[in-house]
Formats: sequence, structure tokens, C-alpha cells
Amino acid sequence: MDNNINTQHLMTHALEGAHKSAEVLKKYWGKVEDIRHKSAIGDLVTEADKESEKVILEYIKNQFPTHEILSEESGLTSTANAAEFLWVIDPLDGTTNYTHQFPFVAVSVGLLYQGSPLLGVVYNPITNELFQAVKGQGAQLNGHPIHVSRTESLQDSLIATGFGYDRRANADNNYAEFLHIYQRCQGIRRAGAAALDLAFVAAGRLDAYWERGIKEWDIAAGIIIVQEAGGRVTNYESNPVNLSEGRILASNGIIHDEISRELMVVRAAREAGLK
Ligand code: IPD
Ligand code: CA
Repeated sequence: MDNNINTQHLMTHALEGAHKSAEVLKKYWGKVEDIRHKSAIGDLVTEADKESEKVILEYIKNQFPTHEILSEESGLTSTANAAEFLWVIDPLDGTTNYTHQFPFVAVSVGLLYQGSPLLGVVYNPITNELFQAVKGQGAQLNGHPIHVSRTESLQDSLIATGFGYDRRANADNNYAEFLHIYQRCQGIRRAGAAALDLAFVAAGRLDAYWERGIKEWDIAAGIIIVQEAGGRVTNYESNPVNLSEGRILASNGIIHDEISRELMVVRAAREAGLK
């Protein structure tokens, strides 16, 4: 990494932007009125998503006019050919949870430098938990260092996953993977906010997380937080994670290859027409 990059300055503004979005999420908590469907049932957008995005985009653009921004409800649509610095933002991860006042929601702010994650902030303003990390500087929860779990096997693991909004229309919808992994671990949680699933892996509360159909803004911040907490993040095949591939596997590192192998078993069965 370029030693001239002032990561402290960048993080200060990432935190400030996240706090501005958090104020919006607190303001509309329990009061959303305008709930619209996007691609499918459950794919929602509310006035909280939009206003949260507006305030953080305005703030980041003001501070860093030469940087680019990719965000869920507006902005760029791809990380390909982006500027040196690309902010990847989900102004509200867990919109369905938010509309039900299920307090597993976050604003997720990631910054890529030359295409790879440089820093990340995942902030749940309802529980007041703020996860953050800068490349090479470790990960923290509310200012305290965090580390991934030491769980050694899949059968002793608590794992998270999620299901894309195309699950009714697409046979590759993670149902087969869910059943297969569920038979082999202690439990699976589907709490509904990918950025927080990753943050929980980083904090050692979950041993792993996988999902398909996931978008850049859901994972950009969480990836660096897991990595800086000592974990591993790849695609399903254990190859380096590619933000736009849509498949992610994050873990404490120890159980990583075991889960990857099981995901490959399911894929082979699907390709052979068995699942
Ligand atoms: C969703 C959540 C969910 C995941 C979906 C995401 P959104 O983000 O992270 O956990 O399963 O794939 O789209 O729509 O609430 O920002
Ligand atoms: Ca969102």
C-alpha cells in the first residue's frame, strides 16, 4: 500500500459520514411510511434508505471531490474501472429488518484503494455497535480490538447466511447449500444484514458466513473488518474474493476450507442434477 495515504484522515471522515447516516436511521426507526418494492417481494426501499444515502453521499463528495462512490440506491453501478479511491456504501443494510423494527440493521461504509478494501465501518445505530478496520491496523468494536473465533470444525460452528431477492425465480438460490451445511454444523442464523454478519464473524460471535447474489455495498466494509480481525474472506472455491462476483465465504480461517469443500459438494450435485 502507498505509505503516503493518510488512513487516519480517511477513517475520520468515514466515521463522520456513518454517524450522519446513523442519525437518519435513528430518526425514522419505528416511523417509516414510504415502503416501496424494488426487484421482488422483500426487496424494499424506504425514505430512511434514501435520506441516509443522501446525507452520506453529500458528505463524502464534499470531503473528497475526486473520489468516486458506489452506493445501493444511486451512484455508480460497478466497481470496474473506478477511480483510485472508491467509496462503496450501503446507507441501510437490513431494510426488511428496519421496516419491522428488528434491530439488526447498519450503515456500511467501505473504501477501496486501487480496487481492494482499505478501510471499513459497519455501524448499527440501534444497538450502538460500531465495527471498524483499516488495512494493516486491526479491527475494533466500539474502540476495542476484536478477533475471529478459534472454533476448529464445522460441526462446532455457528454460521450465518442469507438469501438473495431472486430466490423464488432462481434455482441456484442457496436452499440446497443451506440444508447441506445445516446438517453439519451447530446452527445457522439468517439475521438479514450481510454487513453485520461479516462484522459478527470478525467479533468471533459467528464462525463463518456465506452468501450468493450479494452486492458490493453489502460486503465492501465487512471484508476488511473480517480480514483485520484475523479471518479469511474468499469466494466459494477459496480463491481471492472478488467484490462483483456475488459469492462470498468469510470465516475464522480455521474452518474455511472445510466449508468451501462442502459448498463444492453441493455445486457438483446441482450440476449433476441431484440437488
Ligand atoms: C440485504 C441484506 C441481507 C442479504 C441480502 C441483501 P439490504 O441487504 O444484507 O442479509 O441476504 O442479499 O441484499 O437489501 O437489506 O440492503
Ligand atoms: Ca441497503
